[in-house]
Amino acid sequence: MVSPKLSKRPKICYRPIRPSDLDILEHIHGKLFPIRYESAFFQDVVNGHDIVSWGAVDRSRPDGQSDEVIGFVTARVVLARESEVVDLVGYDSSKSDQTLVYILTLGVAEAYRNLGIASSLIREVIKYASSIPTCRAVYLHVISYNNPAIFLYKKMSFRCVRRLQGFYLINGQHYDSYLFLYYVNGGRSPCSPLEILAVIISCMRSGLKSVAARLYKKGDKKIPRWAKCKESHSLVSTSHNKRNLAVESTAYECV
Ligand SMILES: CC(C)(COP(=O)(O)OP(=O)(O)OC[C@H]1O[C@@H](n2cnc3c(N)ncnc32)[C@H](O)[C@@H]1OP(=O)(O)O)[C@@H](O)C(=O)NCCC(=O)NCCS
Repeated sequence: MVSPKLSKRPKICYRPIRPSDLDILEHIHGKLFPIRYESAFFQDVVNGHDIVSWGAVDRSRPDGQSDEVIGFVTARVVLARESEVVDLVGYDSSKSDQTLVYILTLGVAEAYRNLGIASSLIREVIKYASSIPTCRAVYLHVISYNNPAIFLYKKMSFRCVRRLQGFYLINGQHYDSYLFLYYVNGGRSPCSPLEILAVIISCMRSGLKSVAARLYKKGDKKIPRWAKCKESHSLVSTSHNKRNLAVESTAYECV
């Protein structure tokens, strides 16, 4: 097991989790999380049943410990259409095989914190998700008071897309959770309310312009040629703007 303080400079390596990691994996989960995981979960992790995982080990530790897991991340590939974030990933029903990667657990033993290990583990997940052509995003839940984890996800450019009231039930008490999402492979969110509002304003503006132009036309039959062109140009650029807004929708945070 990991001692509370590191005696020398660690040499961190990453590798897949395997059956021999079962005991240490259960032990660290028990220490780090307020919720208990069933033994079937650990069996699935170490045997790679529907779960992908990476472990961090410190090769500088004495023999017998140099391959012991000191950090881990576990994740599962899920169908986008069956996920709770289907509305956030621009799901295309004509491509029903679209997937997402859901991070189940992430943890680093206390003595190894703030060394960038969790960041590296998340990068492994993002790399893996990006390698799946059908995958559109990586997402996860985090309890609302877990500031180190929240800072970590924000630093890694995850977007906080939702707050779920009473998502966790721990020792009879409900806690909210945040849902964080990271788009991969060009996945992106559909239009936000802000964007829809921008499109409405843009349409209203062009409508007003066209009414004004018509009034002007009534008042003066002799319209200079360039004025007509200007109006039609403005209509063209309005629809063009709309398209641009849709394309740039990722520039807005959902929450
Ligand atoms: C959250 C956790 C995984 C972070 O692991 P870590 O290896 O220490 O994280 P990193 O070293 O990669 O940290 C990267 C960033 O995370 C944030 N962070 C990490 N620990 C932090 C802390 N104690 N306070 C504030 N921010 C913190 C910082 O933004 C940090 O970047 P910086 O070092 O440039 O400031 C670790 O604290 C842990 O295992 N906690 C218990 C289990 C847990 O909460 N898991 C997450 C469940 S969703």
